[in-house]
Amino acid sequence: MVLAVFAKRAVTVAPVLPLEVSGLRVAPLAHLTISWSAVPVDERGAEDWVGVYSPHDVPFLPDGVQYLDYIRTAGISHASAPLEIVGLGSSFSFRYHSVRNGMLTVLAESEPVILEGDGCVPAQSHLSFTGHEGELRMMWTTREPTPATPAVIARRLLQDKAVLRPFGNASSGVVAEARLALSDSKWETSLGTSHTYSVTELCGAPANITRPDLFRPPGWIKDVKIVGLVPDAKYELLYGHGDCWGRTVVQAPPKVAPDGEFAMIFYGDQGAPGISPLNDLKSHSPPGARRVIDEVARRSEDGHVKLVHVMGDIAYGLGSEFRWDWWGQHVAKFAKHVPLMVGVGNHDYCVPGLPPAKDPSRVAEYFEPSWGNFHEWEFSSHGECGVPFARRFHMPDNGNGNFWYSYDVGSVHVIAFSTENNFTRGSPQWDWLLNDLAAVDRAKTPWIVATGHRPAYQSEDYPSDTQVARHLRLDLDELWAEYRVSLVLAGHYHAYTRTCPVINGVCRGTAQRPRGPVHLTVGTGGSTLDSLRCRTFHWQESCMATYGFLQLFANPQELRVQFWGLGWQEDDEDPDAREKWGAFELLDDVRVGPYQQTSLIHHRNK
Ligand SMILES: [Fe+2]
Repeated sequence: MVLAVFAKRAVTVAPVLPLEVSGLRVAPLAHLTISWSAVPVDERGAEDWVGVYSPHDVPFLPDGVQYLDYIRTAGISHASAPLEIVGLGSSFSFRYHSVRNGMLTVLAESEPVILEGDGCVPAQSHLSFTGHEGELRMMWTTREPTPATPAVIARRLLQDKAVLRPFGNASSGVVAEARLALSDSKWETSLGTSHTYSVTELCGAPANITRPDLFRPPGWIKDVKIVGLVPDAKYELLYGHGDCWGRTVVQAPPKVAPDGEFAMIFYGDQGAPGISPLNDLKSHSPPGARRVIDEVARRSEDGHVKLVHVMGDIAYGLGSEFRWDWWGQHVAKFAKHVPLMVGVGNHDYCVPGLPPAKDPSRVAEYFEPSWGNFHEWEFSSHGECGVPFARRFHMPDNGNGNFWYSYDVGSVHVIAFSTENNFTRGSPQWDWLLNDLAAVDRAKTPWIVATGHRPAYQSEDYPSDTQVARHLRLDLDELWAEYRVSLVLAGHYHAYTRTCPVINGVCRGTAQRPRGPVHLTVGTGGSTLDSLRCRTFHWQESCMATYGFLQLFANPQELRVQFWGLGWQEDDEDPDAREKWGAFELLDDVRVGPYQQTSLIHHRNK
């Protein structure tokens, strides 16, 4: 993300234009419209923009960098734009910026927009697995001045009862069906903890600069574990403290067992949607994030999707803390109903020369090998050093915090490993992987899916990343094969790719009768797509550039792997030129069967 600077000189004048927002006291995630008119238009008006500020009275600075987002007005005199405003615990304002002869002028400023309940109503609500059956973790954020003990009050919903009631004009005979959840069970209370983090925990600029568009306090992050849940049962949860409560209905995790079919969603590389859907392709907002999040939310409504797992490069905060808030609020559309699991990416964590004392992964030595691009600023977290990633989520405690861990869901053992920490043979993480794989109970979870961030197989070819891929193959391919890992999923490259079952660059069997894992790259969560064309490798079976996600179905016979992505016109080959995307389509669909041979390789002897 690059903060745009639109002019070298700036002046502020008394507002002379109407700039109106359709609501001034609204709910978080409200849909509004902003309108401007009477703009003096000439050929240079194409550079004009409306800046988004929070709090509303942020002083106007000559370089104009304290805005959070912007909407290009495209030199149109009278226009409006839809807004989706996400709460940050402070008011908002909008300012019309005119650029003429290299001079930036504020022609109009909106009235302050206040988000009702922002700061008290639980925000960024998300569930996650704890790694234990019958448990869920609920986290959310509020912004009270001092920490409060959070609680989740849960009751099981025992049945749904259909109720018919009149709708509209009763004389027309039109009726609508409503479902009323009934419960005879009593409320159970779970208490949790509240924590935050300060600017001093971050590791470098710009992330450790306190400013509205850089570090702003994240509020108090609530963390409550709920135990004793009946698998697959539906629960109503009230969560909060004092006068600040939220409500959701969730389904408890499925029983860990080899039978039954269910769906999971995986993707990486998303970023926080910007302020306006109109703006997604024209600002530093990730172009596809809003579409992917809203589609995943829609698919998560019926209870068939059991989890959403985001494989690193999550919010693209890159030092702008509010982007984590915005991402968290958008994904709460599904994550307050369906567990959200996260893995670490380079843009969440890497800081060249990170001192071990500041490293939230708490490893003895920061991973910065001579190969790859771990030491390059362009591929870093811009000073965040994994603090927002480590503190805003709480993954299972069976590995190393949020950096590497595993969990069982239904018939699948899912591993999240870190390609940003040392994964080479003999490292603590490699030893943990070996132990975790060896301990899998195949009678309960016959399928193993490993997820990381950087891919070992990728047919777009960036030289420094290709070095990392070579090491991932050298150190992990045989481990995956020996323990019959079916899928290895990654992000990092903003494209979708799928390989044959592959070990050390050689295809082993077919997807239906594999003798190695199928590797998939799904860095398609929303951030700008890669511009490199796919190269041809004998192990490559699919490669395409669009936004989307992997939907994985598991049943006792097979893993069904589907990639759903936005369609595009056949004659529009350049992803950057595709401003008008179509609907989500099934673009790849493959069935992966069980291994045809066990214990192929004895890695300990190598
Ligand atoms: Fe990445």
